[in-house]
Amino acid sequence: MTPGSERPAASRLMVAGNWKMNTTVEEGVALARAVATTVSTAARVDVAVLPPFTHLWAVHAALQGSDVRLGAQDVYWKDSGAFTGEISAAMLAGWCDLTLVGHSERRHIFGERDDEVGRKFVASLAHGLGVILAVGETSDERDEGNTFDVVDRQLDAVFAELAGPPAVDAWVIAYEPVWAIGTGRTATPEQAQEVVAHIKQHVRSRFPDGSPRVLYGGSVTAANAASLFAQADIDGALVGGVSLRAEEFGVIVAAAEAAAGSRGAA
Ligand code: 13P
Repeated sequence: MTPGSERPAASRLMVAGNWKMNTTVEEGVALARAVATTVSTAARVDVAVLPPFTHLWAVHAALQGSDVRLGAQDVYWKDSGAFTGEISAAMLAGWCDLTLVGHSERRHIFGERDDEVGRKFVASLAHGLGVILAVGETSDERDEGNTFDVVDRQLDAVFAELAGPPAVDAWVIAYEPVWAIGTGRTATPEQAQEVVAHIKQHVRSRFPDGSPRVLYGGSVTAANAASLFAQADIDGALVGGVSLRAEEFGVIVAAAEAAAGSRGAA
């Protein structure tokens, strides 16, 4: 196993399902209900679903009485105004639990800059929302040996937007190598562990008093989840395609629950 980041591993893992631009509202409500039923016994895992914006309110209602958290796939940093098509953290605050910012599809398809991701991160926290910050390198960047530089740059751009002392323990960062997203080409547990440990060390070099949870994302399946969660620093998963299938998503949550149990016992 790759050396760990020398911090006790988080004993509470997180598994979040990023549905991306999939499902109708009706299908999404049914999926949310199925997820809530399937994961109802997971006590040591924070489970979240991230439906499209159109579904959030209906899924919020469908999740009442369950522990499954509700997240938005993106957010804008201004509270209100002439920003056609955008949704603000102020609009989500109070009923939505978290946002996802910096997903590689936002960065690479929609041209989001690192500093914009930072503003979204800060706006989410300012409105009391949890936030998952996604970072990760492309295949070319990895081949050129620049993986650490790329994730450091993406993290530093977010840190530059922070005002005031950060609550680092509440942060969730997702390491999602672009080459592993939707490709079936999962990072090996050792590759994922290496970068996740680096991310924790990089955060600690800036903020010595806190430790974020760091998830892995990129072709996570029921078959490979347990080996990823067995790594010292991987605190859960951000799941794309498989999160659209409640039963298989439930197997990933169960693997996280088992890993949390053995970390707690260690
Ligand atoms: P896949 O699990 O489909 O590879 O997607 C990962 C992802 O992008 C989650 O945000």
